[in-house]
Amino acid sequence: MTADRAPLASLRPYLPSDAALCATIFRAAIEELTGDDYDDEQREAWAAGGDDVEAFAARLAGALTLVAVVEGGPVGFASLKGGVIDMLFVAPAVAGRGIGTMLLDALIKLAGARGVKKLTSEVSDTARPLFERQGFTAERRNVLRKGDVWLANTTMTKTLAGAAAPGSAAKH
Ligand SMILES: CC(C)(COP(=O)(O)OP(=O)(O)OC[C@H]1O[C@@H](n2cnc3c(N)ncnc32)[C@H](O)[C@@H]1OP(=O)(O)O)[C@@H](O)C(=O)NCCC(=O)NCCS
Repeated sequence: MTADRAPLASLRPYLPSDAALCATIFRAAIEELTGDDYDDEQREAWAAGGDDVEAFAARLAGALTLVAVVEGGPVGFASLKGGVIDMLFVAPAVAGRGIGTMLLDALIKLAGARGVKKLTSEVSDTARPLFERQGFTAERRNVLRKGDVWLANTTMTKTLAGAAAPGSAAKH
């Protein structure tokens, strides 16, 4: 394994003190990583969703949120709310190095351990290949309104391997 391929980040639970940095990562990831899929207006409308840091912090704290850390500083985060992957964002400076995959993989495992049978996410066009590689399949295309702007994403789902057949609840 080369130094390039060594794990770059470690994961830890979200702390309230991460809120402002996560909001910064959210905006930067949208502005700098989604330009092939969404135009300037769409990116601005989407990124503005992180401007109310208090509301953003409440959204992260109200979910199971993991933070990816490099040299002590947050560089990405992902959140799981029940059976929904709510957010997945990685700082542009470290994008394309497996951190998004690491975060999503960890949430899939946590969801399975919590008994989630089917994971769902509204996935951006930018993140869709990553979710596909993690075994998610597209269910439907959505068009969302953010202010005066319309954005498309895709509802994707993944049935978790440990999912029991209906009516076969394990007895321990
Ligand atoms: C989607 C997002 C979270 C992916 O984060 P990331 O850390 O870049 O993801 P990964 O590095 O795991 O995978 C991205 C690419 O890097 C490649 N990659 C994975 N591991 C790698 C490694 N160790 N070294 C180099 N490249 C690697 C992957 O093959 C993938 O290639 P792709 O361009 O064909 O998709 C990030 O782009 C982002 O924040 N996007 C904007 C916001 C967004 O769309 N969020 C999702 C909302 S549903």
